[in-house]
Amino acid sequence: MIYSRIVGTGGYLPDRVLTNAELETLVDTNDEWIVERTGIKSRHIAAKDENTCDLAEQAALKALEAAQVDIAEVDLIILGTTTPDRVYPSTACLLQARLGNHGAAAFDVQAVCSGFIYALSIADKFIKTGAAKCALVVGAEVYSRILNWNDRGTCILFGDGAGAVVLKPDFEPGILSTHLHADGAYKDLLTVPGQIANGRLNGDGFTKMQGNEVFKFAVNALRNIVDETLQANQLDKSAIDWLVPHQANIRIITATAKKLKLPMERVIVTVAEHGNTSAASVPLALDVGVRDGRIQRGDMLLLEAIGGGFTWGSVLVKY
Ligand code: UT7
Repeated sequence: MIYSRIVGTGGYLPDRVLTNAELETLVDTNDEWIVERTGIKSRHIAAKDENTCDLAEQAALKALEAAQVDIAEVDLIILGTTTPDRVYPSTACLLQARLGNHGAAAFDVQAVCSGFIYALSIADKFIKTGAAKCALVVGAEVYSRILNWNDRGTCILFGDGAGAVVLKPDFEPGILSTHLHADGAYKDLLTVPGQIANGRLNGDGFTKMQGNEVFKFAVNALRNIVDETLQANQLDKSAIDWLVPHQANIRIITATAKKLKLPMERVIVTVAEHGNTSAASVPLALDVGVRDGRIQRGDMLLLEAIGGGFTWGSVLVKY
């Protein structure tokens, strides 16, 4: 049996930090409300000339370095993003050109905040079946570009960033299982409804969210995915060493940890400093946990996310 193993991780955050105090000058909000309702204290915002591919490149270079993999070895590049540099080519192809790889399969995955979980799951199948021997999987966003900075219900929540992993085949696990779901019936609860047509944007190009409805669905869906993942692997909650959750809201993260009966010391939490970086949030959190030494080889990790669509999913990894 062949498994995919994560052989390197990388992360990148733009230099500019936007604090809650600064947001108080933009919209009718305050630090106390934001921290209490979301756990977010600050987030990083890309510079005007920085795009998703720029962020992805930095994260990918760090992951390749950690994996000690030359870019020529990579035969699959999958990038999760909601904020691609262009309508096409895909940001994965732009990243491929930037990194100097020729010939690897490269494509984007659009599953909003679940983008990395979807991308990792797809890459796992390629590696497991022998269709790829070395995969670069990235989640990268300049989410700030699709925020209405007059809408206090959304602009306080998100940030920009990128995270990446390199996957290789191994006889030892590895990714144990992946679980993906979507339900387009919820398409209007979290959406950027605009479309490009005839050379211009038709409709609204900003994030629209019914926060409370999204919150309730998220807590429930993530509870269910915990059960589904454990059951599929015939594992007890106690088998999980680290929860590496999507970083949308500390209250959603706490609810999932509670379901797992995991103390918060066993949860990688970056939401306070990163905010919600959409597809970048899980790989960024993973990279933080790996680089600060909390996540060790052999640890059992549960990665999960939920986002617009709705889309949601999990990946169980023996790191
Ligand atoms: O990545 C996955 C997608 N996103 C999520 O998972 C986000 C899910 N949703 C949430 O995290 C939460 O619903 C929010 C943080 C967005 C909102 O928290 P909430 O506890 O659901 O608040 P609410 O929307 O029910 O609003 C409560 C009150 C309202 O005032 P009234 O009507 O009670 O007078 C809002 O107008 O808080 C008000 N409010 C704010 N106040 C200060 C909403 N946004 C703000 C704000 N600052 N930024």
